[in-house]
Amino acid sequence: MTKKTATLTIGENSYELPMMSPTAGPDVVDVRKLYSEAKVFTYDPGFTSTAACDSTITFIDGGKGQLLHRGYPIDQLAEKSHYLEVCYLLLYGELPSAKALEDFEQLVTHHTMLHEQMINFFRGFRRDAHPMAIMTGVVGAMSAFYHDSTDVNDEHQREVATIRLIAKMPTIAAMAYKYTVGQPFVYPRNDLDYASNFLRMCFAVPAEDYEVNPILARAMDRIFTLHADHEQNASTSTVRLASSSGANPFACIAAGIACLWGPAHGGANQACLEMLREIGTVDRIPEYIERAKDKNDDFRLMGFGHRVYKNFDPRATVMKQSADEVLDLLGIEDNPVLQVAKELERAALADDYFAEKKLFPNVDFYSGIILEAMGFPTSMFTPIFALSRTVGWISQWKEMISDPAMKIGRPRQLYCGETLRDYVNIEDR
Ligand code: SDX
Repeated sequence: MTKKTATLTIGENSYELPMMSPTAGPDVVDVRKLYSEAKVFTYDPGFTSTAACDSTITFIDGGKGQLLHRGYPIDQLAEKSHYLEVCYLLLYGELPSAKALEDFEQLVTHHTMLHEQMINFFRGFRRDAHPMAIMTGVVGAMSAFYHDSTDVNDEHQREVATIRLIAKMPTIAAMAYKYTVGQPFVYPRNDLDYASNFLRMCFAVPAEDYEVNPILARAMDRIFTLHADHEQNASTSTVRLASSSGANPFACIAAGIACLWGPAHGGANQACLEMLREIGTVDRIPEYIERAKDKNDDFRLMGFGHRVYKNFDPRATVMKQSADEVLDLLGIEDNPVLQVAKELERAALADDYFAEKKLFPNVDFYSGIILEAMGFPTSMFTPIFALSRTVGWISQWKEMISDPAMKIGRPRQLYCGETLRDYVNIEDR
């Protein structure tokens, strides 16, 4: 088959650039030699048209609203699979056999405890610290405790770090929550599944027994699955760039947590619920729709829009169904926030502005409603997103770090500053 090429003409000169075809999605123009041959850079500040890597893990078809993990659609995984099985799929590329899944779950279950000395880190924070600040600090500090899994060139150490991070993130997130509410830490238990363990570590108190509600455990596990991975989003790209310098996995995941915190990214679930609460009643929705459309107003509908999806985010569709189920099963009728969310979605999707710009609800639009119904404060929404996304960050990290062609990421720039000039002594200024 003839190799595709792209021709770039600059003035009198033409350059043939090789093209590569994916198994799904758009072809790419390989510009790796562009600067050495044509002495020009490409320019793409938000990476809207740039493939930063090749990957086999997750694919999003934004036009169709499709999300595949190793080829399996997210709606099927959310319905038929569970988080630790999705972790295995993302990490190792195939759905596990029953034996492989059991071994993997046992491995994760037996690494959920945190080094006891690390508890001191929590005590250094103010009680009103945001749990994301605590998670960023504690996960980064793991590199000070788990020295036998920081050598990224050692495959066994990479595997140990992988299991430790997936296993300990729920413990760290739960401890961050307990610390901010002034309750004692609850240790993980090996007789509980991943989601049940997390709920118990968050909501159990020493004063009484705690029974995990299976409805909430299933909903929690589904939320974990829906947030597991998402191609080269901002926090995953942060993890990849940090890892390209050879930094240890705990430092790189801490960088991913920090990036996810932003309201334009993982922080949107907290911002969205706060927005829904601020709107308060259905009759105030038109006012907020107009504000979202007003170029002079920096207000945006949180939980709406996406760089890649120009159709429904399939995760939002599953999350909306789950919100209905969970609230119904919990006997929470006429939840005012859910009513506002549904009417806001209807009104926005009926508005030309959102239709023309292809702005649809994203994963963050409904997740907060479920999490609040489960008893979580809004400050725990993004830590739960970070807990879930750890497997995605790790899978993408492993894929990159084990690629012999990996190079340190070092973008160039369009420089618009002062050109060369001599220093002026202060008496001459
Ligand atoms: C996540 O990348 C990922 O995959 C992320 C994520 C993952 O799983 O990792 O999916 C998780 O981060 C989901 C997104 C959560 N963020 C929000 O819900 C915050 C609100 N959304 C927007 O800030 C925005 O939609 C972004 C950040 C999500 C996407 O921004 P883009 O791709 O840079 O798009 P843009 O800002 O260029 O917007 C295009 C147009 C603009 O209008 P014009 O300048 O063309 O006139 O649409 C408008 C924007 O003003 N627009 C919105 C809007 N989002 C975009 N207008 C009102 N409300 C919004 N929410």
